[in-house]
Amino acid sequence: MKPQGVVTRGTTNLNRLRRVDNWIVETCGDRLRSAADPLVVDLGYGATPVTAVELRARLAAGVRADVRVVGLEIDPVRVAAAQSAADPPRLTFARGGFELAGLRPALVRACNVLRQYDEGEVAGAWRAVTERLAPGGLLVEGTCDELGRLGGWLLIDADGPRTLTLAAKLTALTGPAELAERLPKALIHRNVPGEPVHDLIRALDDAWRAAAPYAPFGPRQRWLRTVAAVREAGWPIVDGPRRWRHGELTVPWPTVAPR
Ligand SMILES: C[S@@+](CC[C@H](N)C(=O)[O-])C[C@H]1O[C@@H](n2cnc3c(N)ncnc32)[C@H](O)[C@@H]1O
Repeated sequence: MKPQGVVTRGTTNLNRLRRVDNWIVETCGDRLRSAADPLVVDLGYGATPVTAVELRARLAAGVRADVRVVGLEIDPVRVAAAQSAADPPRLTFARGGFELAGLRPALVRACNVLRQYDEGEVAGAWRAVTERLAPGGLLVEGTCDELGRLGGWLLIDADGPRTLTLAAKLTALTGPAELAERLPKALIHRNVPGEPVHDLIRALDDAWRAAAPYAPFGPRQRWLRTVAAVREAGWPIVDGPRRWRHGELTVPWPTVAPR
């Protein structure tokens, strides 16, 4: 089976994907707990397998001890380099692309993989992956900065994208407009007037400015007020303060889907 996709830059970093991983534990945990086979694929783990090792540890601690993670990489050199970190059967590494090397996982995490593809290739990549998931399976696909301080990811199932989550390290955030730099590939070129995701970022930025009086109580209080205000203004935020406290918010895909 020929791996589908192309080799891209392998940039990765220790703890870079902690925000998305913590969100996966919380949001996708039940799906994994009920899976007949708790198989998870980390697609495109990069030059070193560190984020795959972390994903396995977080899922084993937070969801179920018998979870198996397979790191798939399209670059055979990176597959060979990862073998010393393998811990079979819990954590293994193999060559593969969007075809998932014939696996049928319950969950796929693909972070910072589609960034270097063309926007027009995104839907096909999502389809290739979601067609191969186990029944009820999920794909989490997104982008973050080098240190994982800013990120955005989509939850996608066999019917297509369901939600967009934006996340930031609040103590480092100057304003929600920064989140636009780390939108998932499907949205990053859409932060322009007339596009719904641009309206969302602008609404967040306006609310953040209006919440300036909360700044003395810390950036978390300011963010909580910001997201609450955006919800009051009519944006259908699907999560609540429990996740907002982590510097996140999640909206349904139809509210941000490109026009
Ligand atoms: C920037 S690194 C991301 C590493 C890690 N996921 C992270 O977020 O830190 C992207 C990796 O995805 C790999 N890649 C790109 N397309 C792929 C595909 N279709 N299937 C598997 N790996 C792919 C590249 O070879 C590269 O090593």
